[in-house]
Amino acid sequence: MRVRRLRAREFRTYARLDAELGAGLTVVHGRNGAGKTNLIEALYFGCTARSCRTSNEREVVRFGAAATHVDLDLEDVDGVAHTLSVGFQPGEPKRLKADGADVERLLDVTSRPLVSVFLPDRLELVKGPPALRRAHLDQVIAAAWPARAETRRIFGQAVAQRNALLSSIRAGRASRASLPAWDAEVARHGVVLRDHRAEACELLAEPFARAAADLGLAGEAAIRYRPRTHASSAEEFAAELAERVDGDLERGFTGHGPHRDEIVLARDGRELRVFGSQGEQRLGLLALLLAEREALADVRGALPLLLLDDVMSELDPVRRRKLAERLDGPGQSVITTTDLAHVPGAEAATVCRIAVRDGAALAEPADGAATEAA
Ligand SMILES: Nc1ncnc2c1ncn2[C@@H]1O[C@H](COP(=O)(O)OP(=O)(O)O)[C@@H](O)[C@H]1O
Ligand SMILES: [Mg+2]
Repeated sequence: MRVRRLRAREFRTYARLDAELGAGLTVVHGRNGAGKTNLIEALYFGCTARSCRTSNEREVVRFGAAATHVDLDLEDVDGVAHTLSVGFQPGEPKRLKADGADVERLLDVTSRPLVSVFLPDRLELVKGPPALRRAHLDQVIAAAWPARAETRRIFGQAVAQRNALLSSIRAGRASRASLPAWDAEVARHGVVLRDHRAEACELLAEPFARAAADLGLAGEAAIRYRPRTHASSAEEFAAELAERVDGDLERGFTGHGPHRDEIVLARDGRELRVFGSQGEQRLGLLALLLAEREALADVRGALPLLLLDDVMSELDPVRRRKLAERLDGPGQSVITTTDLAHVPGAEAATVCRIAVRDGAALAEPADGAATEAA
């Protein structure tokens, strides 16, 4: 599934945005503040109905406008055209359409392109707390095996229920008698979630090491799953929970289980999160996204649309070329830059030039823009 055309109205800096994407690499070129990241975000919003930049979605609506719309023209592997449309007015439910028909969630739409995004502020994923990496890995799992998203959801609910019960027991409003039922529930879904994560990390391990080496991250890069529980069965995990119940009651929450797991990204055995330089963390993040792309291609037979915001400016020329070589294969990618000379292969790519006129950003047609900008 590829995106042929992105149209948006009243999205961030864009009163109107109309951009065509190439089948391979598309380079979005414009000066600082021109609206490059906004275009990446609009693409992401069109694919997922969510922002990749903010959890406060009303920020995406253009200043002074009441609502925003993003429309995508898609083409599947057989050349059949599809459309996705997201309408958003703050305070109202989003209006989502696939091929013109209303849908409740884009997640269920099979003609939706998978999308993977690199933003400079996503470095948090490497250097931030484990919860971010868990959530990210769980999203990769959901993209690779959609049916598994349900396990994650039910597990989260079970932990929340158990925590609520712990609070009630602490407050003297409930007895311990109902705890074993929730231990069993947490354990039943917890072991499955752990196995899903282990499988995903295993799938990512080799492509991650290879992508990191390709990008010139010195030393041996590794991704390692560090689960809290090594129980071989749900019963064993439930027993572990029961053993720790006094501590849980003291704390008021469940201290053991997959909701406390860590996914370690390491270089020569040392955690990038702790010991990596900013540059190494950046390469680690990029390698992770490239590895996920490969893994998704293996499992789903489809390459996700790869959105890379402002990545070249931080890389030296050798690494720029390495990255460009990877993007030169099958699959669609979009990369933003202030300087076309930073993107090896830009001559052969579709170039979308962003100009600002009367305070509004305009994405100019690809035709001629490359030569004009060069
Ligand atoms: N909701 C909005 N409405 C209008 N402009 C916005 C909105 N949100 C951000 N901006 C503007 O977008 C500009 C930054 O665009 P951005 O895509 O991040 O630029 P860059 O090309 O450097 O990536 C800033 O000038 C900011 O004020
Ligand atoms: Mg930007």
